[in-house]
Amino acid sequence: MITVKKPNEIAKMRAAGRLTGEALAYAEERIRPGVTTAQINAAVHEYITSHGAVPSFLGYHGYPASACVSVNDVVVHGIPGGYVLKEGDIVSVDVGVIKDGWQGDAARTFAVGKISPDAQKLIDVTRESFFEGIKQARAGRRLGDVSAAIQQHAERFGFGVVREMVGHGIGRQMHEDPSVPNFGTAGTGVLLKAGYTLAVEPMINAGTFKIKFDADGWTTRTADGSLSAHYENTICICDGEPEILTLI
Ligand code: MF3
Ligand code: CO
Repeated sequence: MITVKKPNEIAKMRAAGRLTGEALAYAEERIRPGVTTAQINAAVHEYITSHGAVPSFLGYHGYPASACVSVNDVVVHGIPGGYVLKEGDIVSVDVGVIKDGWQGDAARTFAVGKISPDAQKLIDVTRESFFEGIKQARAGRRLGDVSAAIQQHAERFGFGVVREMVGHGIGRQMHEDPSVPNFGTAGTGVLLKAGYTLAVEPMINAGTFKIKFDADGWTTRTADGSLSAHYENTICICDGEPEILTLI
């Protein structure tokens, strides 16, 4: 069941979303060679909790941290730890916040120092594919319009669009209906309505779209070892342009 949020509920999601975006910016300020992924997680945790909110990932199905920190070939759900970021790495940080009972969810891929032009292109195209997708995120369009636009943009550059992990509805729960794939067919799928709130999150690989899972049950990598980037925002379908709740 897809829930339509009322204006007062969207206002609460706006507050949760702002905090999510701010926590990501706080993490970004700390990213440089020599910093561990655990330190990035600690910064996110401190930012969220010191602003009277709850990190939604911590304890979610047993997930052990407040942020996912995914380096290079890790697509998503990298568990923060002792890995020391080095010049040339790319690192995806994914953050979820619960404030006043409402959720925000967002992710970005950052460069560590100077990175290769190919890595920068992957980061840029992943972000662009999100914005191509949400041009279609309007009342009266279909979800497949969003999915197809994301897929077409990423594949135009020869990149692989991850199939097994998708975006999602969001609200009081982090994961609500509908699923929001980053691939699909225009003109098909759920009819979008004003008041739907969605986490749109392209996960784009430099090589194959195929992924594999580490023995920890969380860490998700590209099957071919190529780099992967992630860009996610929580959005609200409005009467005109969608509102991005997690961009500050
Ligand atoms: N943003 C992610 C998602 O949408 C990460 C949540 S996984 C968690 O699914 F377990 F870490 F919470
Ligand atoms: Co998400």
